Amino acid sequence: MTVEDVQIFIGNIIHCKSRLNLEVIKPGFVIVIGSKIAAVGEETELPHKLTQLQLKSCVATRVLKKSQILIPGLIDTHLHAPQYPNCGLGYDKPLLEWLNTYIYELEKQYVDLDFSRRVYKAVVRKTLSNGTTTACYYGCLFNESTNILVDTVVEYGQRALIGKINMTRLAPEEYLETPEDSIANTKKFVKYVFEKESDLVLPIITPRFALSVTMELMKELGQIAKLGDLHIQTHISENAEEVKLVESTYGMPYAQVYDKANLLTRKTILGHGIYLSDEEIKLLVERGTAVSHCPDSNLCLKSGLCNVRKLLENGVKVGLGTDISGGASPSIIKAMKTCLDVSIAKSFHVTEVKPLNYEEVFYLATLGGSEALAMENKIGNFDVHKEFDALIIDMGINIEDYFIGCDPREILQKFIYTGDDRNVASVYVAGVEVK
Ligand code: GUN
Ligand code: ZN
Repeated sequence: MTVEDVQIFIGNIIHCKSRLNLEVIKPGFVIVIGSKIAAVGEETELPHKLTQLQLKSCVATRVLKKSQILIPGLIDTHLHAPQYPNCGLGYDKPLLEWLNTYIYELEKQYVDLDFSRRVYKAVVRKTLSNGTTTACYYGCLFNESTNILVDTVVEYGQRALIGKINMTRLAPEEYLETPEDSIANTKKFVKYVFEKESDLVLPIITPRFALSVTMELMKELGQIAKLGDLHIQTHISENAEEVKLVESTYGMPYAQVYDKANLLTRKTILGHGIYLSDEEIKLLVERGTAVSHCPDSNLCLKSGLCNVRKLLENGVKVGLGTDISGGASPSIIKAMKTCLDVSIAKSFHVTEVKPLNYEEVFYLATLGGSEALAMENKIGNFDVHKEFDALIIDMGINIEDYFIGCDPREILQKFIYTGDDRNVASVYVAGVEVK
């Protein structure tokens, strides 16, 4: 180990030890060696820790200001990189019409690799700037374009899961593939990602949703995931009309369709899950499958209000997603705020629902997201031996707007309710400062 491999951060630190346990270390330190957290504690313990780790106190030290807090990186468990140009557009239409009118028409343009490069560069930079250190991306149908998303994520140093989507039905012909191509191209894509040999990026099997594919294809994709121990992502129960169509197409409830294809695993992330029945929720818990809650999208497309409290209390793993461009904002900061809004709105008409609070949405955006992605041993908080994915949040950037004191919990609340990318002073992924 050289001195350059070691970084020390000193200041107020907030992270989740578990769903209901927010830890505030005031003031504290984090020692980072290479990409990993070597020690965390109260500042008074730092000299002892340095001696114990045989480190000199002269290694690179960053001391946070009183208006700053150190928090884990934010995790976006569901977003569509190629849809970034469509953010804010077409929300007069419900999901299925919106997909047909705007989304497939946009996504088929990614045969253009220059366009792909420009959009993916923009979306990776924008999400990093908003503090998304890990993103679970849907790519498009085309391998060449989705490979560029992989290259871009590696170039900018974001942690990511990336999927080439599978679609053989119900879209314009030029934006469909045959089942044979779908399987062959998925295998090729997985190989491409592994050959990058990046510690940051993993492939994820991505059948778009039950209406885009067939049971046979889903089963084959489930087999590929099983053989490679790969992640899986798709959409579920997002819109009432979609749910009806899936049930009439397959003759069984939505979650059962995926289960029959062996797509529900502990490494599966399902977008939305608004209309899941009690039996479907039970099935997800049994399989260890997660839901990505996408509150902005669910409002923009008028899909519905997800009862996140119910999912959590039943033991479903839940993370937050922007679902751009179902959601208009690429920011998980915004998703935390809208998650609170949706939860409050839900509590007005389902009175037994206690609204989520700021600590819980912070959990969903960090440790909860890591659990949803089955990456809780690697990221999500500042436990020793995890990767150092972190943000320095500064709520004092505009001194004219900064009136109150420096209690770290208050800084976190201000950030969730009023913050944006300007308040994300620095972003670290695997110990490397990328903003
Ligand atoms: N269901 C199938 N595809 C999509 C998509 O691109 N966005 C959303 N929000 N839902 C979907
Ligand atoms: Zn989506």
